[in-house]
Amino acid sequence: MTFFARRRWIGVAVTLTTLVGVRLWAERMENRLQSSSYFTGWLLLSAIVVLAAFQLRKKLPAAPFGSAATWLQAHIYIGLGSAGLYAIHAPWRWPNGILETTLSFVYLATFASGAVGLYWTRSLPRRLSRLGSEVIYEQISAERHRIQQRAQGAILSAVRTAGATTLGEFYNARLHDYFSTRRGWSFRLWPTSELRKSLLSELTETTRYLSDDERKTAEQLFALLRERDDLDYSESLQWRLKAWLFVHIALTYPLLLAAGLHAWTAHLFDGGLP
Ligand code: HEM
Repeated sequence: MTFFARRRWIGVAVTLTTLVGVRLWAERMENRLQSSSYFTGWLLLSAIVVLAAFQLRKKLPAAPFGSAATWLQAHIYIGLGSAGLYAIHAPWRWPNGILETTLSFVYLATFASGAVGLYWTRSLPRRLSRLGSEVIYEQISAERHRIQQRAQGAILSAVRTAGATTLGEFYNARLHDYFSTRRGWSFRLWPTSELRKSLLSELTETTRYLSDDERKTAEQLFALLRERDDLDYSESLQWRLKAWLFVHIALTYPLLLAAGLHAWTAHLFDGGLP
């Protein structure tokens, strides 16, 4: 068993054992006619505070308490385990009132964004590295402009020197917009290779009617078309990696607030904080 597989099994075993322990303890309390809600509620709130504190830990890289990798592992298992705590703590019915409903939705959204982010942070870097060349997100616009300039330069010189009107017309009709405008939001959210495939096949079809000189320029366009599509794809995946974390962090603050208010009101209606 590799180090990572062993670490995963230990994480899963510790999380499940803790949850079973909490469940049994809560049952014991109920059997003794004591309410287990404060016990499970405070555990859940503490878990949420520790999960949120991960951001502080990331902001203080030189902090003495645990390495960044240990914090990340703890974050993942406490995050996943918090769903078990939530299931033990919250009654299995539709939430009551605005505060309970908001708290449930914000918790579920934070949990879901964490789970999706965990999957993406594991799978997207592999998909990005398959593209071959890595482009820094902030440099993508400049790179896009460079490709557009090269495509435009290639077609202009072909028209000027070889009178490439067939290729020139095809460029104007099908490739000019492709190279000069950004892909829409639908591609950013859900990138597909449809446009790439269709333009490549249209360009292949057009090469049948081209002179030898025009074909050389068409070869350049094939390469630039692929390069541009890879760049857009890379932008979409890198954006996804940034966007999920933004959403995940943005949900953390309302979650802390709603959970804190929920704990406070629970004690308020029970005769004040102990
Ligand atoms: C439910 C309550 C949760 C809260 C309040 C919470 C909060 C946070 C915070 C504050 C960060 C730090 C972001 C930063 O500064 O970079 C973070 C990162 C992260 N969280 Fe959560 N999280 C929760 C649940 C989860 C769950 C359930 C998972 C996975 C199953 C998860 C996976 C992650 C991952 C993968 C990161 C990014 C780590 C990195 O790339 O450095 N979170 N979370």
